[in-house]
Amino acid sequence: MTTSRPRSEFDSAYAEGSTPPWDIGEPQPAIVQLERTGQISGRVLDAGCGTGEHAIYLAQRGYDALGIDFAPRAIALADQKAAARNAPAQFAVADALELTGPPRFDTVVDCGLFHVFGAQDQAKYVANLHAVCRPGALVHVLALSNRGPGIGPAMSDEPLREAFIEGWRLRVQESTLRVLVPPDTDPAWGLTPNQPADIPAWLATAEHVG
Ligand SMILES: C[S@@+](CC[C@H](N)C(=O)[O-])C[C@H]1O[C@@H](n2cnc3c(N)ncnc32)[C@H](O)[C@@H]1O
Repeated sequence: MTTSRPRSEFDSAYAEGSTPPWDIGEPQPAIVQLERTGQISGRVLDAGCGTGEHAIYLAQRGYDALGIDFAPRAIALADQKAAARNAPAQFAVADALELTGPPRFDTVVDCGLFHVFGAQDQAKYVANLHAVCRPGALVHVLALSNRGPGIGPAMSDEPLREAFIEGWRLRVQESTLRVLVPPDTDPAWGLTPNQPADIPAWLATAEHVG
């Protein structure tokens, strides 16, 4: 993808009566697995949190979790969900491309944010993450892979390898991202429209190495 998608497009996706394909009502299995295997710690930023499933999941497990998203409707829904589930997650409307401030996060989870950015914004975003992460922090990025059925902004692993260079130690693995299958998905993939399916994704883990 060469240009990033505008805020209004995402905000409309969260309008009443519509459920975007990524909003599956539960945390991504890949993030659950990261938590179970000890790869989440301390103060956590959920970047591009949408309606907050990951920040809520992690706050319920004792992490100090903040979710940010630039779509006000997403944050309103996240706040409602956290209140309904009695989860101590914090949420704020904020642009991940404007993140500043002292190094304060030990973990970042990004499910589907990096892959919506164009190349320039990917570089800016990663520089911002470097500034707000403490040395040793882990940034986990789950991004749609171009080996999948063409749902959403799928990509090769190259943009990840090009963005996380100086100041990071990067590992990229094949993984999956659970989505609600859009009705216009190529039937050759044998996926059932409007049902959840696990489709190919990249799981990148970048360690802040100073
Ligand atoms: C594919 S959705 C994923 C949402 C959520 N992480 C999830 O797993 O359900 C991408 C999210 O990133 C948000 N987003 C896009 N650009 C952003 C930016 N510059 N700053 C903050 N959030 C952004 C969108 O509003 C949207 O909620």
